[in-house]
Order: sequence, then structure tokens, then C-alpha cells
Amino acid sequence: MEQNEVFNPPAEFSNSASIKSLDEYKRLYQAAADDKEKFWAEQAQAVHWFAPWSKVLDWSNPPFARWFIGGQTNVAYNCLDRHLTTWRRNKAAIIWEGENFEQRTLTYQELYRKVCKFANALKELGLKTGDRSIIYMPMIPEAAVAMLACARLGITHSVVFGGFSAEALKTRIQDLEAQIVITANSGLRRGKDVPLKQSVDEALKHCPTVKNVIVYKRQEIPTHMQSGRDHWWDDMTLDRPETCPAEQLDSEHPLYVLYTSGTTGKPKGVVHSTGGYLTQVLSTMKWVFDIRDDDVYWCTADIGWVTGHSYVVFGPLAAGATAMMYEGAPDWPKQDRFWRLIEKYRVTIFYTSPTAIRSFIRQGDQWPEGHDLSSLRLLGSVGEPINPAAWKWYHKVIGKERCPIVDTWWQTETGAIMISPIPGATPAKPGSATLPLPGVFPEILDDKGNKIEGAGKGFLVLTQPWPAMLRTLYKDPERFKENYFSRFPGIYFTGDAATRDNDGYIWVLGRVDDVINVAGHRLSTMEVESSLVRHKSVAEAAVVGAPHELKGQAIHAFVTLKSSEKESDILYDNLREWVAQEIGALARPEKIHFVAALPKTRSGKIMRRLLREIVTTKSVAGDTSTLEDYNVILQLSRQGKEEEEILGEKK
Ligand code: WTA
Repeated sequence: MEQNEVFNPPAEFSNSASIKSLDEYKRLYQAAADDKEKFWAEQAQAVHWFAPWSKVLDWSNPPFARWFIGGQTNVAYNCLDRHLTTWRRNKAAIIWEGENFEQRTLTYQELYRKVCKFANALKELGLKTGDRSIIYMPMIPEAAVAMLACARLGITHSVVFGGFSAEALKTRIQDLEAQIVITANSGLRRGKDVPLKQSVDEALKHCPTVKNVIVYKRQEIPTHMQSGRDHWWDDMTLDRPETCPAEQLDSEHPLYVLYTSGTTGKPKGVVHSTGGYLTQVLSTMKWVFDIRDDDVYWCTADIGWVTGHSYVVFGPLAAGATAMMYEGAPDWPKQDRFWRLIEKYRVTIFYTSPTAIRSFIRQGDQWPEGHDLSSLRLLGSVGEPINPAAWKWYHKVIGKERCPIVDTWWQTETGAIMISPIPGATPAKPGSATLPLPGVFPEILDDKGNKIEGAGKGFLVLTQPWPAMLRTLYKDPERFKENYFSRFPGIYFTGDAATRDNDGYIWVLGRVDDVINVAGHRLSTMEVESSLVRHKSVAEAAVVGAPHELKGQAIHAFVTLKSSEKESDILYDNLREWVAQEIGALARPEKIHFVAALPKTRSGKIMRRLLREIVTTKSVAGDTSTLEDYNVILQLSRQGKEEEEILGEKK
């Protein structure tokens, strides 16, 4: 690893940044280390509280943290109402462009009115604090409106990515026991309709808790509406009052539940709080994005992911920023769409994923070079490790060697960015998320849980609670404990491996559990396996992540067929499509390997580690591994391995 290449923050950037030097960062970090509670109490001053808290942190019942005990606040109030008494009232809150080039700009006042009207519609349907909603929307401003309206009333919402299938939607609705689904009749992706409402109808055949569906009309297309259950958004908000009081919610009120893949087939409902979450998200807007009032800030994430929650909606709006939102695909109608958007709206901060960056590299420099990107001042990356070559391309071709890059490490569970350069302060090393933010205390542990001091490689853990941390897994506190706090008792285990270099910089290497990170999206091997074995031809399946040039990792499925079935190209395609239908296109396996048997431990556990080795070392010749190849490789891989080691395989 080229660990010694350093890019200092450009002086021009540092001079006007809110944190100007590494020393300043160190002082802040030290202050948080000396007295974490005092530090976060100061940060929480940036939030509007209806009632003050009496205690900063309650960690008396670990791992269940409570922050800002007794404090009352409201996230939507902080994102909207607070700005209405300032000059920001007529500032653009959201600048949106549809894939079909439609444009809308909503000022803070306009957004406020839309949110209030929609909140009143929810009330009219009988929804109240403590209820639950599912939001299954395309990337349109109404998605943010729905999130904020729920937050305003204390309805715990769960956004389901619009690319997920009816089946995936169903399991999430059922787990959440949601009373309402908020959706659109269609989305737009590469010029085609995405039939969101159809998926909702399909899912709702098995969701008795849902009494109402609100449907935003994205396009004039025939839409099935079930009378008594389904309501058009426009009808529900027409002539409704344009104000609606924000509920004064307890700091620990669950703001949202976001389902993410874990190490079993069942997705985990990560529960986020109100006061602590908002405090940390807001702090990171300042530290990491150095957000200013004249910025045009664009995070390209979909609202279906945590990045869309913290850094498309809640973070930027709480900071009073102008946030860009784009509905469609980056290569529609041509490969330069993102650069066109940056040029057109004079975007100053651009935050995207390494997968997107790698695909831009592949498309060629002519696409960005055809546009004026001089408005950019800061670039960001999130979701997966960024390889140094991609980092340098981003720095040179997009940032023109002028813009710092923030490589931000965090997780659905952490709620906010945890490890990242501070753009005006931290010398960057391509491929490293660099140093922990103030109030974040990572360690690297060895297999036995011993702290690695100084340089070394091991498991990345967080040793102290932080305000935006997940509070639990929805309705499953035992799984919460087991999943995050049992590998190293009492310490939060991230699931990632990392190295620390001699400068204390952290290099996150990727997941060490059964989670695959495809194009920055988390999937569990078990989820894909369970889908495959539901197919009538499949006997057994084992799924692993294989390195992929563009997506970081791609799904490889090893499949054994029932004895009556024969492998064929048709079945190969069918199985890939099956998974895409069951979970969503992002889960479509890159490759299916038909095999005669899966390698197992004596206790019958599939040895995914061995399969990972096979796909990683590329020992599998050809597109589909034949039976002979596979057995040869398997035997080779086993040679020299102690049987004990094979038996000791965990998971
Ligand atoms: C990975 C996304 C390296 C990591 C915000 C983590 C990263 C998982 C980085 C969380 C980064 C995220 N460098 N790896 N800058 N950012 N990851 O929950 O494996 O979708 O555990 O949250 O993505 O993915 P999640």
C-alpha cells in the first residue's frame, strides 16, 4: 500500500475553513477525549431544544445508550422552523432536477409549508406520535417532505430503497408493523417507469397492519388505486392548513428505523434516536463538509440508504444549507449527467461513492472535461474503501488538484460520519479515511481482543458510545447485543478490518463478516442464499463476495441443483433474475457457479471462507466452473490445511 503519499490541504481552503489546522483538530479531539460529555453538551447547543436535558449520557445499562436525558426537540423543527425566523427563509433548501430535466427549487418556507400540509394529511388519517410509516419513494422532493412530516409528528419512519422488490418491501413493512405506506405511482430510471405502486400493491397482500397508502403522482400513468385504502397525495394536501405544530419529542424518541443487511437472512432494523442523532449529524456537517451558507451541496446517495438520511435530508437542512437532489441515473441520457448538473447549478460540495468514481474513470475523461467544474471546492467519498488510483483520478480530473477529498468512514449503525479527514486540517493519504472525528474513539483489536498499539492490523471497534449510535435493533434488543457487543464483550464491533499506520491513520479494509458490499450497498450472503434456495431447482447455495473492478465487490453464488435438475444457460439466467426479483436488482448475482457439492465443515457449516478464496485468487477458470475444475481447486485449497482449522471455521 502506498501509505506514504500525502496531500496537504490547500492553503486557500484552510484559510477560510472552520477548522484551519491539524493542531486545531487535535485540540478539539483532545477536548472530547478529556471530557466527552462536556464536549457533546457543547455540540448539542447547535440544536434547538424545547426543553433542556438534565444529563448528557446515560450508559448505566450498556450497550443501551441514552443521550441528552429529558431533553425535548424535533428534527423537522430544526430542519425547517428554525430557519424561518432568519434570512434563510427564502434561501433554496432543495434544488431538484428530474431525470427528464424537470426542475424545482424549494425555499425553506416552501418546504415548510409542504411538510406541514403533509403532516396534516397524516393526522387526518389518524396517525400520531409513536406510529410507524414506510416510505417507498423515488428521489423527488416529496421523499424529503414525507420524512420531515413524519419526524414532525413523531411517526417513526422507515425508508425502503425504491430499487427493492415487493418481497423485500413486504418483510420490512411486516417487521415494522407500519400503519401507512407513502409512495409514488412510479419512479423514473434511465427513461423507464419504475412501478413502485405495483410493488406496494403486491406487498400489501400480506401486510394487515397497513390501513392507508398515500400515492404521489410522479407521472400520468394508469395507476390502480384501492378505494378506502389508497389516497392521492395531491388530494390529501389540497387546501390543507399550511402550519402544523412540531411535536415536542423526547431526545430518545425513535426518529427512524433503517433496515440493513446483517449476517443472517433477516434484515436488521437499525433504530436511530432524535436528539443525539441530530447533534452528531449537525456537527459533522460543519467538521467534514465545512458547510457554509453559499454552498451548493450535493450528496448523490439515494434516500433509501443511511447516507441519504443523514447527508441528503437531515444534516444539510438542519445546517440551513442548499441541498441538490437528482432523481435519475448518472449516465442518463449521456455519461456526463453529473458534470452537467455540477456546471448548471454551480455545485460546490460533491459527495459520492467509490463505485461511481470508478465508473466515471472507465467512461473516460472527456465527459467531465467537457464541463466547467470550477465551482467545486470540496469532494467526498463514502460507502466502501476507495482505491488510491480512483482517489487520485478524483483529485486530479474532478477536483483539478484544488479540492480536498474527504474519505468518510461510517455505517448505518453509526448514524454519522466517524472517521474522516477534516478538509482544511488533515493531510490526506489516498485510500485512508485518516483520523477519527472528535468524540469518536476507535481501536484496532487482535483476534483475542487485545488492543493493538501503534501500527498494526486487526478488527475495527469503537470503545465508547457516541450520540448518533443506533439505540437497538427494532424489537430485537438481544440481537443488538449479540450482533455488535459480543465478539468483543462490551465493545462495539464494526464488522470491518482495518490497519493503522505509523501516523495513526486508519485504513479500513472491508467487512470480515458475511456482509458483501456491492457498489457501496450492503447485502448479506444469507439473504441471497435464502432467496436462491427458494427456487424450485436449487438444492443448496453459498454466496460470497468477489473483488470487482467497478463495484468493489460482486456476488458469486455457488449452487447445487436438485437431482432432477440440469444446469443450463437458461437456468443460469433464471437464477440471476430470480434473486433480482426477490430482493432487488442490486442483489442480482454477478456469477452463478454450478457445483456438485459445497465445501462444508464436519458440523455441516458451509465454508464460505474457502469459496471466497477461490473467487478472490481467481483459481476458478472460465465463466462457469465445471465440476472437475471445482473439485481440483477445492482439493488444492485444502492441501496443507490442518483439519483442525477447517473444523474450527466459524459462521
Ligand atoms: C464500508 C454507509 C472504507 C464499511 C455509510 C462499513 C467504508 C460499511 C467507508 C457500512 C469508507 C463505508 N472506507 N469502507 N470511507 N464507508 N464503508 O451501513 O465496510 O451502508 O462497515 O453505511 O461500508 O455500510 P453502510
